[in-house]
Amino acid sequence: MDEYVKIIIKADEYMRKNLSEHRASHIRGVAIESRRLAVRYGYDPRKAFLAGYLHDCAKGFTKEENEFYVNKYNIDVPAEEWSIGNSLIHSKVGAFFAKEYFGVEDKEILDAIYYHTVGRPEMTLLDKIVFTADYIEPERDQNSFVPLSVLRPLSYEDLDKAVCEILRCCYEYITKKSSNYVSPDTKKTYDYYINK
Ligand SMILES: [Fe+2]
Ligand SMILES: [Fe+2]
Repeated sequence: MDEYVKIIIKADEYMRKNLSEHRASHIRGVAIESRRLAVRYGYDPRKAFLAGYLHDCAKGFTKEENEFYVNKYNIDVPAEEWSIGNSLIHSKVGAFFAKEYFGVEDKEILDAIYYHTVGRPEMTLLDKIVFTADYIEPERDQNSFVPLSVLRPLSYEDLDKAVCEILRCCYEYITKKSSNYVSPDTKKTYDYYINK
Protein backbone atom coordinates (compact mmCIF):
# COMPACT_ATOMS: atom_id res chain seq x y z
CA MET A 1 0.00 0.00 0.00
CA ASP A 2 1.50 3.35 -0.90
CA GLU A 3 1.88 6.29 1.47
CA TYR A 4 -0.99 8.18 -0.17
CA VAL A 5 -3.53 5.40 0.48
CA LYS A 6 -2.29 5.01 4.07
CA ILE A 7 -2.94 8.72 4.74
CA ILE A 8 -6.43 8.56 3.21
CA ILE A 9 -7.31 5.54 5.39
CA LYS A 10 -5.94 7.25 8.51
CA ALA A 11 -7.83 10.44 7.65
CA ASP A 12 -11.03 8.46 7.15
CA GLU A 13 -10.67 6.75 10.55
CA TYR A 14 -9.89 10.06 12.22
CA MET A 15 -12.90 11.74 10.62
CA ARG A 16 -15.30 8.99 11.71
CA LYS A 17 -14.08 9.22 15.30
CA ASN A 18 -13.67 12.96 15.71
CA LEU A 19 -16.01 14.82 13.37
CA SER A 20 -19.78 14.97 12.96
CA GLU A 21 -21.45 13.18 10.05
CA HIS A 22 -22.37 16.57 8.63
CA ARG A 23 -18.72 17.68 8.68
CA ALA A 24 -17.57 14.35 7.27
CA SER A 25 -19.91 14.56 4.32
CA HIS A 26 -18.75 18.14 3.63
CA ILE A 27 -15.13 16.92 3.69
CA ARG A 28 -15.86 14.06 1.28
CA GLY A 29 -17.68 16.54 -0.97
CA VAL A 30 -14.69 18.90 -0.98
CA ALA A 31 -12.27 16.04 -1.75
CA ILE A 32 -14.38 14.85 -4.71
CA GLU A 33 -14.95 18.38 -6.02
CA SER A 34 -11.19 19.13 -5.69
CA ARG A 35 -10.39 16.02 -7.73
CA ARG A 36 -12.87 17.07 -10.45
CA LEU A 37 -11.42 20.59 -10.60
CA ALA A 38 -7.90 19.13 -10.75
CA VAL A 39 -8.84 16.99 -13.77
CA ARG A 40 -10.38 20.06 -15.43
CA TYR A 41 -7.33 22.29 -14.84
CA GLY A 42 -4.55 19.75 -15.37
CA TYR A 43 -3.47 19.28 -11.74
CA ASP A 44 -2.59 15.99 -10.01
CA PRO A 45 -6.04 14.60 -8.99
CA ARG A 46 -4.64 12.50 -6.13
CA LYS A 47 -2.94 15.47 -4.51
CA ALA A 48 -6.09 17.57 -4.91
CA PHE A 49 -8.25 14.82 -3.39
CA LEU A 50 -5.91 14.51 -0.39
CA ALA A 51 -5.78 18.27 0.19
CA GLY A 52 -9.59 18.35 0.08
CA TYR A 53 -9.82 15.37 2.40
CA LEU A 54 -7.62 17.03 5.02
CA HIS A 55 -8.64 20.68 4.62
CA ASP A 56 -10.93 20.69 7.69
CA CYS A 57 -8.98 18.17 9.81
CA ALA A 58 -8.75 20.66 12.70
CA LYS A 59 -12.34 21.86 12.44
CA GLY A 60 -13.38 19.91 15.54
CA PHE A 61 -10.58 21.23 17.75
CA THR A 62 -11.35 22.86 21.08
CA LYS A 63 -9.86 26.23 22.07
CA GLU A 64 -7.35 24.33 24.25
CA GLU A 65 -6.26 22.11 21.36
CA ASN A 66 -5.86 25.16 19.13
CA GLU A 67 -3.81 26.91 21.82
CA PHE A 68 -1.60 23.86 22.14
CA TYR A 69 -0.76 23.79 18.42
CA VAL A 70 -0.51 27.56 18.04
CA ASN A 71 2.08 27.60 20.85
CA LYS A 72 3.85 24.46 19.73
CA TYR A 73 4.35 25.69 16.15
CA ASN A 74 4.42 29.41 16.86
CA ILE A 75 1.52 30.03 14.48
CA ASP A 76 0.56 33.65 13.89
CA VAL A 77 -3.01 34.13 15.18
CA PRO A 78 -4.11 37.71 15.88
CA ALA A 79 -6.28 38.28 18.99
CA GLU A 80 -9.35 39.04 16.83
CA GLU A 81 -9.17 35.56 15.28
CA TRP A 82 -9.43 33.97 18.71
CA SER A 83 -12.57 35.99 19.33
CA ILE A 84 -14.46 34.42 16.42
CA GLY A 85 -14.06 30.80 17.49
CA ASN A 86 -12.52 28.27 15.15
CA SER A 87 -13.69 29.70 11.84
CA LEU A 88 -10.24 30.92 10.73
CA ILE A 89 -7.84 29.22 13.15
CA HIS A 90 -8.72 25.68 11.98
CA SER A 91 -7.10 26.24 8.60
CA LYS A 92 -3.76 27.38 10.05
CA VAL A 93 -3.68 24.75 12.79
CA GLY A 94 -4.95 22.14 10.30
CA ALA A 95 -1.89 22.55 8.09
CA PHE A 96 0.45 21.79 11.01
CA PHE A 97 -1.75 18.95 12.25
CA ALA A 98 -1.85 17.42 8.75
CA LYS A 99 1.94 17.33 8.80
CA GLU A 100 2.35 16.10 12.36
CA TYR A 101 -0.48 13.56 12.64
CA PHE A 102 -1.03 12.41 9.05
CA GLY A 103 2.58 12.74 7.93
CA VAL A 104 1.90 14.99 4.94
CA GLU A 105 5.15 16.55 3.78
CA ASP A 106 4.01 18.07 0.48
CA LYS A 107 4.20 21.87 0.88
CA GLU A 108 1.57 22.54 -1.81
CA ILE A 109 -0.95 20.42 0.09
CA LEU A 110 -0.06 21.99 3.44
CA ASP A 111 -0.34 25.49 1.96
CA ALA A 112 -3.73 24.71 0.39
CA ILE A 113 -4.97 23.66 3.84
CA TYR A 114 -3.41 26.69 5.54
CA TYR A 115 -4.98 29.19 3.10
CA HIS A 116 -8.34 27.54 2.46
CA THR A 117 -10.33 30.05 4.55
CA VAL A 118 -8.75 33.40 3.67
CA GLY A 119 -6.77 32.67 0.53
CA ARG A 120 -3.71 34.75 -0.31
CA PRO A 121 -2.56 36.93 -3.19
CA GLU A 122 -1.21 34.82 -6.07
CA MET A 123 -2.75 31.57 -4.85
CA THR A 124 -1.29 28.40 -6.33
CA LEU A 125 -3.50 26.25 -8.55
CA LEU A 126 -4.05 23.84 -5.66
CA ASP A 127 -4.89 26.73 -3.28
CA LYS A 128 -7.56 27.86 -5.75
CA ILE A 129 -8.90 24.34 -6.28
CA VAL A 130 -9.44 23.64 -2.56
CA PHE A 131 -10.68 27.18 -1.84
CA THR A 132 -13.27 26.85 -4.62
CA ALA A 133 -14.24 23.24 -3.86
CA ASP A 134 -14.88 24.21 -0.23
CA TYR A 135 -17.51 26.65 -1.42
CA ILE A 136 -19.18 24.75 -4.28
CA GLU A 137 -19.07 21.09 -3.13
CA PRO A 138 -22.36 19.22 -3.68
CA GLU A 139 -23.37 19.21 0.00
CA ARG A 140 -22.96 22.95 0.32
CA ASP A 141 -26.30 24.63 0.62
CA GLN A 142 -26.39 28.30 1.45
CA ASN A 143 -27.64 31.62 0.29
CA SER A 144 -24.56 33.21 -1.15
CA PHE A 145 -24.26 36.62 -2.69
CA VAL A 146 -23.69 34.92 -6.04
CA PRO A 147 -25.94 31.83 -6.33
CA LEU A 148 -24.26 28.43 -6.34
CA SER A 149 -26.07 27.67 -9.59
CA VAL A 150 -23.86 30.36 -11.13
CA LEU A 151 -20.68 29.68 -9.15
CA ARG A 152 -20.59 25.94 -9.90
CA PRO A 153 -20.45 26.17 -13.71
CA LEU A 154 -18.22 29.28 -13.49
CA SER A 155 -15.67 27.27 -11.47
CA TYR A 156 -15.26 24.91 -14.43
CA GLU A 157 -15.12 27.72 -17.01
CA ASP A 158 -12.76 30.19 -15.35
CA LEU A 159 -11.20 29.33 -11.99
CA ASP A 160 -9.77 32.81 -11.36
CA LYS A 161 -13.16 34.43 -11.91
CA ALA A 162 -14.76 31.87 -9.60
CA VAL A 163 -12.18 32.63 -6.86
CA CYS A 164 -12.95 36.32 -7.28
CA GLU A 165 -16.70 35.78 -6.98
CA ILE A 166 -16.30 33.53 -3.94
CA LEU A 167 -14.11 36.16 -2.26
CA ARG A 168 -16.82 38.70 -2.97
CA CYS A 169 -19.42 36.38 -1.40
CA CYS A 170 -17.25 35.80 1.69
CA TYR A 171 -16.51 39.48 2.03
CA GLU A 172 -20.19 40.41 1.77
CA TYR A 173 -21.03 37.71 4.30
CA ILE A 174 -18.46 38.75 6.91
CA THR A 175 -19.02 42.47 6.60
CA LYS A 176 -22.75 41.93 7.19
CA LYS A 177 -22.23 39.74 10.24
CA SER A 178 -22.48 41.33 13.66
CA SER A 179 -18.87 40.53 14.61
CA ASN A 180 -17.86 42.44 11.48
CA TYR A 181 -14.25 41.30 11.81
CA VAL A 182 -12.47 41.08 8.48
CA SER A 183 -9.05 39.53 8.91
CA PRO A 184 -6.17 41.47 7.28
CA ASP A 185 -5.39 38.31 5.24
CA THR A 186 -8.94 38.17 3.86
CA LYS A 187 -8.74 41.86 2.96
CA LYS A 188 -5.35 41.40 1.30
CA THR A 189 -6.60 38.50 -0.84
CA TYR A 190 -9.85 40.29 -1.64
CA ASP A 191 -8.09 43.49 -2.78
CA TYR A 192 -5.61 41.52 -4.87
CA TYR A 193 -8.23 39.52 -6.77
CA ILE A 194 -10.79 42.28 -7.13
CA ASN A 195 -8.15 44.56 -8.69
CA LYS A 196 -6.66 41.83 -10.86
FE1 LIG B 1 -12.56 25.03 6.69
FE1 LIG C 1 -14.54 23.20 4.60
